[in-house]
Amino acid sequence: MAHLVTPWALAAGQELLEHLPTDERLILPALQVMQQSFGYVPPEAVALIANSLNVSVADVHGVLTYYHELRTTPPAPITVAVCVAEACQASGSRELVAHLETNLAPLGGRSADGEVDLVEVFCLGNCALGPAALINNRLVGRVTGASIKSALADARLAP
Ligand code: FES
Repeated sequence: MAHLVTPWALAAGQELLEHLPTDERLILPALQVMQQSFGYVPPEAVALIANSLNVSVADVHGVLTYYHELRTTPPAPITVAVCVAEACQASGSRELVAHLETNLAPLGGRSADGEVDLVEVFCLGNCALGPAALINNRLVGRVTGASIKSALADARLAP
């Protein structure tokens, strides 16, 4: 299944911010709302947030670049997020990531066909079934290279 995101539009971004209080401490929530809706934070959204919260563009940009989970470019249709927190590491998530880097995409990068982004995350709340991963919004446990390959085939076929 592809990401369920809305294409970026200035009016849609403005509408999202209308639901947030105008408090300079809300830079991060505002960025998260943008990413949740559009799949990333477009440059136009940075200026929009700065204006809405009455802070500088540099302030917003500073928060945007500090948090690695915030994206500044649109995501690939499929994102594979592998948990590399402690419990999943004990179950082999680092080895899984190494396998995926060889066979799928570089960590933090995109597959050669442009269809899949590979990222690491820290705890998905599925520690007892590690290694855990999210394939788009689908949580999977005890993942292996083979099960991710199968899940990707499903995701590519999904409408
Ligand atoms: S440590 Fe991986 S899901 Fe919690």
